[in-house]
Amino acid sequence: MVDVHSHLLPLVDDGAIDIDDMNGMLDIYLGEGVDSIVATPHFKSGIYMNSYEKVCLCIDVLGLSGRVLPGQEVFLDKDTLGYCKEGLIRGINGGSYLLVELAFDKFRVDYLSYVIELIDFGFRVVIAHPERYAYFSKNPSLLDDFIRVGCFFQINSGSFLGLFGKDVKDFAFLLARSGLVDFVGSDAHGSVKRVPRLKVALQILDKAKAGLGSIVESNAKSLVLDELLVVQKRKPLADKRKSVKLGAFKFFK
Ligand SMILES: [Fe+2]
Repeated sequence: MVDVHSHLLPLVDDGAIDIDDMNGMLDIYLGEGVDSIVATPHFKSGIYMNSYEKVCLCIDVLGLSGRVLPGQEVFLDKDTLGYCKEGLIRGINGGSYLLVELAFDKFRVDYLSYVIELIDFGFRVVIAHPERYAYFSKNPSLLDDFIRVGCFFQINSGSFLGLFGKDVKDFAFLLARSGLVDFVGSDAHGSVKRVPRLKVALQILDKAKAGLGSIVESNAKSLVLDELLVVQKRKPLADKRKSVKLGAFKFFK
């Protein structure tokens, strides 16, 4: 099994706090049957400048080559394309899939144009945990443009397990029913809190929608090999606004 989203590398972002924490995560991965982990430390301009080269170096220095593959979770903004051109940002495992996250506080109208720039540059854009952005769960039709231009979607395993609250969980399952769960990643940040849990979530998904757990497991392998995915039939979300329970939400960054 492959985890496509993990803050495993210590001391580079808000993930593992030291090598013991990282080793604890690796032990959990072993128990989960995860044999390949994509390290995706945050890349956020001026805050987490984790270049692709730095991620590769960390993996090498820590003796994790082979089991851990390089990636980044790129905070999408006006400078993202420039960093890609400079080579600071690259796709996962050097391929064409790029994991991007958005701001939690509010939707930016420029997001779609930034995504189109990245696609034109040659990336396959994967939106990290769309279920956690309250502006999407309150207004799912905002996602339709991202579906239209060919984005992929990575949902956190913890979202299906209720880790981020009921609204996030409900929206994660709505995305599953709408054919919008291309990947499930743990987005694990440590060995004590937000630990790597994938297996249970995939089992739950398989029950919610027959075969979905197997599809996302297979897609994760395709991602690291830079191969084409199994893309499910997308259902537009334009009519879903009233079906999602609105309410107060919390930030669990
Ligand atoms: Fe993350």
